[in-house]
Amino acid sequence: MEILKSSASLKLYRSKHDIEGNIVGFVPTMGALHQGHLSLIDVAASQSDYVLASIFVNPTQFNDPKDLRNYPRDLEKDLALLEAQGKTSAVFVPEVEDIYPEPDTRIFNFEMLDKVMEGAHRPGHFNGVAQVVSKLFNLVEPHKAFFGLKDFQQLAVIRQLVKQMQSDIEIVACPIIRENDGLAMSSRNQLLSDEERLHAATISAILFKSKELAQSMNVIQLTEWVISEINRDPFLQVEYFQIVDSLSLTPVETWNQAGEKQGCVAVKVGAIRLIDNIKFD
Ligand code: PAJ
Repeated sequence: MEILKSSASLKLYRSKHDIEGNIVGFVPTMGALHQGHLSLIDVAASQSDYVLASIFVNPTQFNDPKDLRNYPRDLEKDLALLEAQGKTSAVFVPEVEDIYPEPDTRIFNFEMLDKVMEGAHRPGHFNGVAQVVSKLFNLVEPHKAFFGLKDFQQLAVIRQLVKQMQSDIEIVACPIIRENDGLAMSSRNQLLSDEERLHAATISAILFKSKELAQSMNVIQLTEWVISEINRDPFLQVEYFQIVDSLSLTPVETWNQAGEKQGCVAVKVGAIRLIDNIKFD
């Protein structure tokens, strides 16, 4: 596995491997890798001739400086995990100055997609995601890029970004990978205390249960039930839970309306903020 530390070395690598008909798969990450990230690389490897990953903690998508400071970083361990998995051809690990030689002042317009849920609670977050992902896409020039459904809203924003860039990169959505007790894997899980970690499993347990209760409750009742059940755990505080249309992310009013529906939640577990989501049939 090649380690590409600058955009110049990435460009060189990319041009050397620019073989007619080769499918280049790309998996962008912020590191602190876990099985969720590695599963994206598995999917990418199964659909591409070679896989490029990136590890870059993007400062512009952090609306909270403390969150950026505390974000877990362990490049050596990440590289060892990728090496052991053996499916990544090259990993791009740029410095901030390389990606942002000057401040990125672009403001994207995603209409409703970045205004609700995460967008409402983390102002500027998706603008920062769009800044870095558009830059990475331009540098890596992949045919396909792989994103986790764990960050459901991010996927919707990226799909819109690709449209706006008039890019033909194919965006592939990959399933959420969970711990044995159901907690969605996340780099932030390692910031939880042992006690908080145990309680965090309540989030997915309530989401799974809500899927069953959807048979007997209407959308408003179910929304209230999820919020109050999670909040009943003294370690957990719901920031939002919303059932939205999977494509437009607009609130769902009744189960009868057309289209796929997704329940999306953000929960504070002590000082750590976690997100998860579930599909309603
Ligand atoms: P990061 O949080 O490191 O996630 C990188 C990718 O891994 C994202 O596509 C995310 O959805 C996916 N992922 C994380 N946990 C997962 C899980 N439990 N199951 C499946 N997939 C999972 O998302 C970002 O980084 C950044 O915003 C990024 C897109 C790299 C831009 O900076």
